[in-house]
Amino acid sequence: MNQYQIVEGDQTVYRDGTIKLHGPEGFEGMRKAGQLSARVLDEVADWVKPGVTTGEIDDKIREMILDGGAVPATMGYRGYAHSSCISLNHVICHGIPGDKVLKEGDILNVDVTSLLDGWHGDTSRMYFAGEPSIKAKRLVEVTYECLMLGIEAASKPGARLGDIGAAIEAHAHQFRYSVVREFCGHGLGRLFHDAPEVVHAAKAGTGPELRPGMFFTIEPMINLGKPWGKVLKDGWTAVTRDKSLSAQFEHSMGITEDGVEIFTESPTGKHRPGDY
Ligand code: MF3
Ligand code: CO
Ligand code: CO
Repeated sequence: MNQYQIVEGDQTVYRDGTIKLHGPEGFEGMRKAGQLSARVLDEVADWVKPGVTTGEIDDKIREMILDGGAVPATMGYRGYAHSSCISLNHVICHGIPGDKVLKEGDILNVDVTSLLDGWHGDTSRMYFAGEPSIKAKRLVEVTYECLMLGIEAASKPGARLGDIGAAIEAHAHQFRYSVVREFCGHGLGRLFHDAPEVVHAAKAGTGPELRPGMFFTIEPMINLGKPWGKVLKDGWTAVTRDKSLSAQFEHSMGITEDGVEIFTESPTGKHRPGDY
């Protein structure tokens, strides 16, 4: 059984397995952190192009987060030293920004987390460098649909955590794509990664019920080929074993009395490639 814990004020919370329930001040904090991260991803759309390095994009991200009065939550997190994760082509997640030069046709995920006034806004989107293949574009579009269908499942009254993964898996399988199981969405708020674990493939009607005040991410990683991944020797970069393309989108959200509030929605309508 999962336990729930009400969080108020600036009370210290622990990674003790409990699911935290927040009030209006938590929603306000997450809105601010989430909107800063979303504004950063809006700008990233103008920075991604062939010839640019992932390290240059990461530098601009750091600058913009610091200018916003926040810090990149990934800097110094378990030894990670960058302001974003940038995952190209067959990289599933946790790609390390560096000297890699973007080339025509690359698809990439940029994942940022701002820590603002003690709250974490965690979000990622896919971007295109130039014009990718039709296969790559369709994977990206369907992955975005998977995220939004997961959110829709979470919005229904009486929803359980497993409903999210069930909706995502059903959609991905229609296109014969696979769902990564080694990495999950997560509770967040005062903590970057907290209970519950939000799996992206699950059975409907299972898992803890979604209660108002719960904050978590949904961040499906969908592969063109098999679901299996491995982590490279750098200790971070997760790639598909069969080197097939992988895509991901992520939002941070809170459960409200009548649905879901997405904290990291783009303020300028840049939801997915095609919008930018
Ligand atoms: N932002 C990632 C997530 O969605 C976590 C990145 S942790 C890092 O949960 F250390 F790799 F940056
Ligand atoms: Co996340
Ligand atoms: Co993230």
